[in-house]
Amino acid sequence: SPKEIVRIVEVGPRDGLQNEKAVIPPATKIELVNRLARAGSNIIEAGSFVSPKWVPQMAGTFEVMSKVEKTPGVIHQVLVPNMKGLEGVFSLHETHKGPRPVDEIAIFTAATDAFAKANTNCTVTESLARLAPVTRAALDRGLKVRGYVSVVITCPYSGKVDYKRVRDITRELFEMGCYEVSLGDTVGTGNPTSVGEMLETVMKTSLVDKLAAGDIFFHDTFGMGVANAMKAVEMGVRTLDSSVAGLGGCPYSPGATGNVATEDILYALQDTRFTAAGDLDALVDVGFWISEQLRRNNESRVAKAIRAR
Ligand code: HMG
Repeated sequence: SPKEIVRIVEVGPRDGLQNEKAVIPPATKIELVNRLARAGSNIIEAGSFVSPKWVPQMAGTFEVMSKVEKTPGVIHQVLVPNMKGLEGVFSLHETHKGPRPVDEIAIFTAATDAFAKANTNCTVTESLARLAPVTRAALDRGLKVRGYVSVVITCPYSGKVDYKRVRDITRELFEMGCYEVSLGDTVGTGNPTSVGEMLETVMKTSLVDKLAAGDIFFHDTFGMGVANAMKAVEMGVRTLDSSVAGLGGCPYSPGATGNVATEDILYALQDTRFTAAGDLDALVDVGFWISEQLRRNNESRVAKAIRAR
């Protein structure tokens, strides 16, 4: 029987790069996005239109998006925190010749007020109120909207998270118009048991179908990323977020390491009843290329094992 598709959202160019200290030239970012698409990644989060005072590394996203190659079948997504960010996307589209560079926006909130304040300078309730008109305006212009909830297992500031809060916020994001909600274990403390409990709670909404097509997002701080992702797939989640070479780390989540590596997820899905876009060997090459550009270690265990053969 035909294999079932697991969608992979490649977040390396955004979540992966946002925390790097040294300024990365736009040309390197553009090349990363283009190389990922050539390696078969078909959903790529390419940057963010956030305040450059808060995340200086993402300041060049306008330029990056205006120069990224548009390949049919590849979805490019950017992160947007407020109306000003969305206006940045609109002005890019107004001045750009050729196909629209941005296909989707992603909006983000958190499961705790402490994290929302550290990341976006407002409470969760305030952030949802801020994001509702952003979502409406994006949908009106034909941009799909994806939602993120950060710190769904543990918050670096307020500890263990109430999964019912995750459930309620997720439901609000769906009601707002998000087609998918990504649940972020931002600190990476989750294990298959806690992730299973969290998902079970979140799935107890009237929107189980949408969430099953939904998404989960793992940081690999404790090395549980792959196990957690496979647990989520087992429970019906069909979209996973990951970063080539395990790039990443949220600037407002101290101590969190990178994301689960895309190469590791692809390897884990081999020989299962699932299939995912992306050529593993080609992505291994992209991962080593960007690690060299950034002068950092490649954090994908699978990439290192394949190279060592
Ligand atoms: P604020 O300081 O309250 O906002 O920040 P403000 O309205 O007072 O604006 C401050 C300055 O920023 C002003 O400039 C604005 O114009 C400018 P000034 O007048 O002082 O010269 N500004 C902007 N510039 C460009 N684009 C914009 C924009 N907005 C304001 N969109 C704000 C509030 C939300 C803007 C800020 O907190 C922010 O940008 N936060 C983003 C933080 C961020 O990007 N974090 C990382 C992404 S989230 C993440 O990694 C988690 C995730 O991966 C899932 C997971 O792993 O959990 C998604």
